[in-house]
Amino acid sequence: QVAAATGHTVVLVDQSEEILKKSTKGIEESLRRVTKKKFADKPEAGTEFIEKTLKNLTTSTDAVGVVHSTDLVIEAIVENQEIKNELFKTLDKFAPEHTIFASNTSSLQITQLANSTTRQDRFGGLHFFNPVPMMKLVEASVIKTPMTSQKTFESLVDFSKAVGKSPVSCKDTPGFIVNRLLVPYMLEAVRLFERGDASKEDIDVAMKLGAGYPMGPFELLDYVGLDTTKYIIDGWHALEPNNPLFAPSPLLNKLVEEKKLGRKTGEGFYKYK
Ligand code: 3HC
Repeated sequence: QVAAATGHTVVLVDQSEEILKKSTKGIEESLRRVTKKKFADKPEAGTEFIEKTLKNLTTSTDAVGVVHSTDLVIEAIVENQEIKNELFKTLDKFAPEHTIFASNTSSLQITQLANSTTRQDRFGGLHFFNPVPMMKLVEASVIKTPMTSQKTFESLVDFSKAVGKSPVSCKDTPGFIVNRLLVPYMLEAVRLFERGDASKEDIDVAMKLGAGYPMGPFELLDYVGLDTTKYIIDGWHALEPNNPLFAPSPLLNKLVEEKKLGRKTGEGFYKYK
């Protein structure tokens, strides 16, 4: 959405037409929200902006079939090293020489992903934040691995600015900047609640009114997705089993097992139906 809205030609790829239909609908709704504010007193210009943005966006279920015409691939699939590696390995065979690959991974090592391709110098991280149209940050190529070339790094920084974001840079460390701080904080909130020290509602109110956060940790967990948070913490726990900040949470695991994944399934810590 943000790339299409800033004049880039985008092909959105997913596994089925059904998912793509849902994604396109989500983008249209989000564009309407953005437009309502941006063009408050010029509704015609707003309609034109939406039409122009949607013209820049096509969809496909065939990643291999469309990758030949791309300059930049941004991968944002399930947070699983093997599945991501498999995708990158395949795309690497069909993408043009100059094409840069980037991952929106929240927690995996970019170096490991880059190593599944033959273009380690044209590989970096581009980590966006929910909701992407509103959040100004992208941890750009950030994730400059020791193999990422300076040219690739600069291209990713330029792209981040071109889509209207403020890039920050970080080494290829677990969680980069934001998630390294945010995920242990959210897990600490779950542990506080699990111990029965405070209700989730009070913890959320406390962090909103006491620390100025726009959402409390339980609201944010539901927003980000409990499955995503579990993948992140499980991955870090495997890397550093003795780090108490990365300890898995029985309550989080239970909710994920029950398919209560947050807003997207209608229930997580809270109910949304
Ligand atoms: N698309 C477009 N616009 C949106 C939007 C979306 N998906 N979601 C919200 N907005 C806009 C609304 O239209 C509204 O615009 P307005 O002020 O002009 O009316 C504005 O955002 C505020 O929305 P609301 O009034 O509905 O609600 P809030 O004031 O509570 O703001 C929020 C919503 C921007 C989501 C705010 O609560 C927030 O900043 N929350 C914290 C989000 C956060 O921490 N994100 C990072 C998560 S970590 C992550 O993503 C990393 C991953 O790897 C795990």
